[in-house]
Amino acid sequence: MAFPQTRMRRLRATHQLRGLVRETQLSASDFVYPLFVAEGLTGRAPIWTMPGIDRLSVEEAIIEAGAAAGLGIPAVILFGIPTHKDAEGSGAYAEDGIVQVATRAIKQAHPDLIVVTDLCLCEYTDHGHCGVLRERVGHAGTEHTVDNDATLELLARTAVSQALAGADIVAPSDMMDGRVGVIRAALDEAELSEVPIMAYSSKFASAFYGPFRAAADSAPAFGDRRSYQMDPANGTEAVRESLLDAQEGADMLMVKPALPYLDIIRRVREATELPLVAYNTGGEYSMLKAAAAAGYMDEQQSVLEALTGIKRAGADIIITYHAKDAAQWLT
Ligand code: PBG
Ligand code: ZN
Repeated sequence: MAFPQTRMRRLRATHQLRGLVRETQLSASDFVYPLFVAEGLTGRAPIWTMPGIDRLSVEEAIIEAGAAAGLGIPAVILFGIPTHKDAEGSGAYAEDGIVQVATRAIKQAHPDLIVVTDLCLCEYTDHGHCGVLRERVGHAGTEHTVDNDATLELLARTAVSQALAGADIVAPSDMMDGRVGVIRAALDEAELSEVPIMAYSSKFASAFYGPFRAAADSAPAFGDRRSYQMDPANGTEAVRESLLDAQEGADMLMVKPALPYLDIIRRVREATELPLVAYNTGGEYSMLKAAAAAGYMDEQQSVLEALTGIKRAGADIIITYHAKDAAQWLT
């Protein structure tokens, strides 16, 4: 039946009717809140590219984690900013590395809060790439490439060290081939077989990471990440990456960034049955914060609409810097 028997506006008439037929429910229990923990810092230091987000000392990270938990947010994801960087990113897998120290401290203070650890080398390498470099003599002279297989061993060490520190979930974000399988094997070998892997499966080489790299001090010193992160133009390849990570033993898959890649979220959702995470990146966050600060848009409405869109596209879990604000608005 069509108009006039059918009138779509009947079920939109009141707040209550709209609530009754709403298809997508956004909730604080969907969110993961990112924390930047800086070694040697006292207190907090604002991140100029991400208004409202600070670098935190371990003590402040405990407080911030508690605030998130108090708002009903079930998980945080930790990024470390070390005082020392070297070619092999040794701070990533040091027993007293900043993420390891912060993980132990947060788990002790808030045992029920899920601590996810971002697993990559770029915050810890002096060259800022996500793996170790190898020199290669090409026709343009000596060039550097990120050595995939040599990096795998360091990622596996990092995973084990994070899990031993108490990480509930490890989240490899490096985009090396085969890393999920190698990390799974290393965790199992170390009797950490119960620790899940949240794989950044479809991680695109994106300008939306710009604000984060200023926050984490992880911009590459030369070149870019296009030889390991995905080409933003490719969707079918994202499905392939996701299926490969699932085959290697990933427990959860991720699409990153979120808003410019909603079609990828939908395609991965339809191609696999694993829980799907979307990373609402620093660039997506700062875009809305800047527009709101300029008075162009209403912050609360635009943020909740964007997060609802990510969930409607097929994400089960959203990593977002808006988590605390959104959790507050949703209650
Ligand atoms: C590290 C990592 C990055 C992000 C998460 N883990 C940056 C990068 O790959 O350059 C991005 C997070 C964000 O943009 O908010 N590999
Ligand atoms: Zn990295």
